[in-house]
Amino acid sequence: MNKLSTPHKPTLIDPFGRRIEYLRLSVTDKCNLRCFYCMPKGFKDFEQPEHWLTFDEIERVIKAFTELGVARVRLTGGEPLVRKNIAELAHRLTALPGLEDLSLSTNAMLLDKQAHELHHAGVTRINVSLDTLSPEKFKEITGGELQPVLDGLIAAKLAGFSPIKINMVAMKGINENEFEDMVEFCLQHDFTLRFIETMPMGATGENATDHYLDLQTVKQKLSESYELIPGVMPGGGPARYVQIKNTNLRIGFITPISQHFCESCNRVRLSVDGTLYLCLGQENKVELRPLLRQGISDDELKTALINAIGLKPEKHEFNNKPQQVVRLMSMTGG
Ligand SMILES: C[S@@+](CC[C@H](N)C(=O)[O-])C[C@H]1O[C@@H](n2cnc3c(N)ncnc32)[C@H](O)[C@@H]1O
Ligand code: SF4
Repeated sequence: MNKLSTPHKPTLIDPFGRRIEYLRLSVTDKCNLRCFYCMPKGFKDFEQPEHWLTFDEIERVIKAFTELGVARVRLTGGEPLVRKNIAELAHRLTALPGLEDLSLSTNAMLLDKQAHELHHAGVTRINVSLDTLSPEKFKEITGGELQPVLDGLIAAKLAGFSPIKINMVAMKGINENEFEDMVEFCLQHDFTLRFIETMPMGATGENATDHYLDLQTVKQKLSESYELIPGVMPGGGPARYVQIKNTNLRIGFITPISQHFCESCNRVRLSVDGTLYLCLGQENKVELRPLLRQGISDDELKTALINAIGLKPEKHEFNNKPQQVVRLMSMTGG
């Protein structure tokens, strides 16, 4: 993307001095999988379609955010690819002058068919959730089939996505014997690998906590088989990276529980119903949908966003109050 940079770009600064420049945009709370740590089996309490922000409304909010210095947006969900015409939305967002980077988090079940048009629409980077390479284990964790995900990954490579990051939730008693297999898979395909600690959210929080694995243990285990070089690829996100010596493989560790990274948090989240969540692990929020549908002006919208950032809490409290967050990860946009 070739965008002109504007001098004296406005910025959103929260009460703790953090610059907010990244937004996670959940385009649906629905999903075609049911990962046991994310969405309860049989869950049906989805947002009514008339509450979904329309593409026009989404574009309007993202435009306002970009005019306040938010330069990066990630499409997420639920599963973003189950929302119809998502490539069209991507196209509209990448056309916004202030948006420098549009990325996607997906389970890749529908990526095979959509990879090319998403890349064409200007999405450059994707994260694919994949916790196991065993079809049986995949079924156990997600309730779905593994093959479409693998097909989706190949399609993404062919479409030209780079980097492709695999997000693997590390779980005690579930996939702890598969970390090396995933390392080898990522080496083979030139993917980046990121391990994630389970977080206690909503009704699935207990499932997540039962299998919690401290990623320091995972790193230690990997270092017995591979020579890990620390400190590569600082990036703007929460992952701390190492690289396997003499390879291009980068491995990130996302440790919201064992080493939280709230002091450098640069993000907020917009859910499909237009709620702006200021923190993944707290309930601080502002409802934007009523404002948009009451005919708020562009300037008033920007003022509402600036005021909302004033509500961003200092940190999550997953450790002290693990059951505090009542909403599911799939509602907020993980
Ligand atoms: C909520 S999903 C949404 C995007 C897409 N459906 C996907 O799976 O990539 C985003 C990320 O959140 C992670 N996630 C969901 N529930 C979690 C939990 N309780 N703890 C840690 N990570 C979780 C998933 O593994 C996934 O990588
Ligand atoms: S982690 Fe992603 S794929 Fe799995 S249930 Fe949640 S939203 Fe769906």
